[in-house]
Amino acid sequence: MIQTSLKSASLKPTRVVVLISGSGSNLQALIDSCHAGELPIELVAVISNRADVLGLTRAQDANIPTAVLDHKNFADRETFDRALMQKIDSYQPDLVVLAGFMRILLATFTQHYEGRMFNIHPSLLPKFQGLHTHQRALDAGEKHHGVTVHFVTAELDGGPAIVQASVPIVAGDDAKSLAKRVQQQEHIIYPLAVKWFAEGKLKMIEGKTQLKGELLPAAGVQIHSDTL
Ligand code: GAR
Repeated sequence: MIQTSLKSASLKPTRVVVLISGSGSNLQALIDSCHAGELPIELVAVISNRADVLGLTRAQDANIPTAVLDHKNFADRETFDRALMQKIDSYQPDLVVLAGFMRILLATFTQHYEGRMFNIHPSLLPKFQGLHTHQRALDAGEKHHGVTVHFVTAELDGGPAIVQASVPIVAGDDAKSLAKRVQQQEHIIYPLAVKWFAEGKLKMIEGKTQLKGELLPAAGVQIHSDTL
């Protein structure tokens, strides 16, 4: 009896809320991995701070509940963050996934989800925090560029890394071609990180990332791609 209930408890899918602001291609990668039976998660809601974005259509097409909280309708960041927290918590998530969610979140918010919120950022952090990362990598004459999945902390794009994928920068690249190559990697490593978490293999402990019981180096698991 006890064994049965323990077993069924461990089979409970991880409840995931995804926050978006735009096209939702990373959301789509998670949806596709779920449909392929590769992720032991349930996508319980997609929340956007913008109406009329493609990501919401992707969610609706996959029968995932959606909500829009337009930041422009709130007096200040505190009020928006509080409303967003309440909305997220109404879905009782185990994990919150920022997938192209382009709002700065205050410390009260990030602390509330400490150890259970991921972000994906299009650079090899700690390089190029913030915006326009592809152009900045080109301007800096980098040989490689890439993407990082990390736990979210109060420091913008500064939480402990989980996994990084790098791609070569090649002659003739512009920000668009480089972004495309990086995004192909995003769609591989985001489902991978979510899978590790859902399988109970990934934790944030004292500001560091632990995977399968081992502390990871500061840059997380490294994936190198020579895909052009
Ligand atoms: C992704 O490239 C993601 O890395 C980036 O926004 C894009 C969203 O694309 N995130 C950031 O810049 C966060 N600082 P998507 O909506 O198609 O997933």
